[in-house]
Amino acid sequence: PTIFVITPTYARLVQKAELTRLSQTFLHVPLLHWIVVEDSPHKTPLVTDLLAKSGLTYTHLHMPTAKDRKLQEGDPSWLKPRGVEQRNEGLRWLREDRRAQPGGDNQQGVVYFADDDNTYSLQIFEEVGVGVFVYMMLSAVQMRSTQRVSVWPVGLVGGMKYERPVVEGGKVIRFHTGWRPSRPFPMDMAGFAVSLKLVLANPEACFDGDAPMGFLESSFLQGLVTMDELEPKADNCSKVRVCAVWHTLDRETEDEERGGSAGSGTGFRPCSGG
Ligand code: UGA
Ligand code: MN
Repeated sequence: PTIFVITPTYARLVQKAELTRLSQTFLHVPLLHWIVVEDSPHKTPLVTDLLAKSGLTYTHLHMPTAKDRKLQEGDPSWLKPRGVEQRNEGLRWLREDRRAQPGGDNQQGVVYFADDDNTYSLQIFEEVGVGVFVYMMLSAVQMRSTQRVSVWPVGLVGGMKYERPVVEGGKVIRFHTGWRPSRPFPMDMAGFAVSLKLVLANPEACFDGDAPMGFLESSFLQGLVTMDELEPKADNCSKVRVCAVWHTLDRETEDEERGGSAGSGTGFRPCSGG
């Protein structure tokens, strides 16, 4: 099955560098369709050009974040959710496009949300296939085998070295997280993938920009799956060492998350609402 990767992106100094790095990761992944959604009132020449030269299968979309929802100069980065309208636009396109595709395999696929600034190892995409040794090595974080929603650890997130679902008897029983474990799905965007079938069967499922901070992922997953149904990858989410996705931060964000602007000194984001 094809992996549809939805990436929100916005203009800033590092944008071209980030997208170059990401596109060159994705070049290593077979059957990947990159859906790039610019946070912009129009498609920019920079992204248009980069995609055209990328060698990837892609769809280029744009959807500006409404002005009152957009971070303003000087705002701390956690103040408003980011990439919401863009991910929803990606989902809208995907649902429409898949409906228009003839044939029985238009429901086959996996949807993954990859921010433009994170670091993704090939291990999260790969399928088992090249023998037992490779199977052991990668055994695996393979999102391609997702039936409903698959999950795995994410490094360097939420002020922690890693966050992960905690698995017992093959089921996720709770989450190791530094931030509000009581959230329905206390996971980073980079830590899960959803089967296309499930996305298509739930046409109303989307990201809620009004969700309280940290509840964005939950707002989407809540209608789709229960904790009991999550499919743990990466050897039951235990293989943090071989994992696979890092929520790599710029220094500014890192300082903020360490408590700089929060002033709490705990390394966790302050809580607003909800
Ligand atoms: C964390 C999570 O990793 C995100 O998946 C989640 O959307 C975000 O928190 C949130 O709670 O809203 P973080 O690293 O803090 O992400 O956010 P960014 O990396 O700054 O933004 C996430 C994505 O949205 C990126 O792909 C970025 O390019 C895009 N973005 C950001 C926009 O499209 N427009 C913006 O104005 C800012
Ligand atoms: Mn980020």
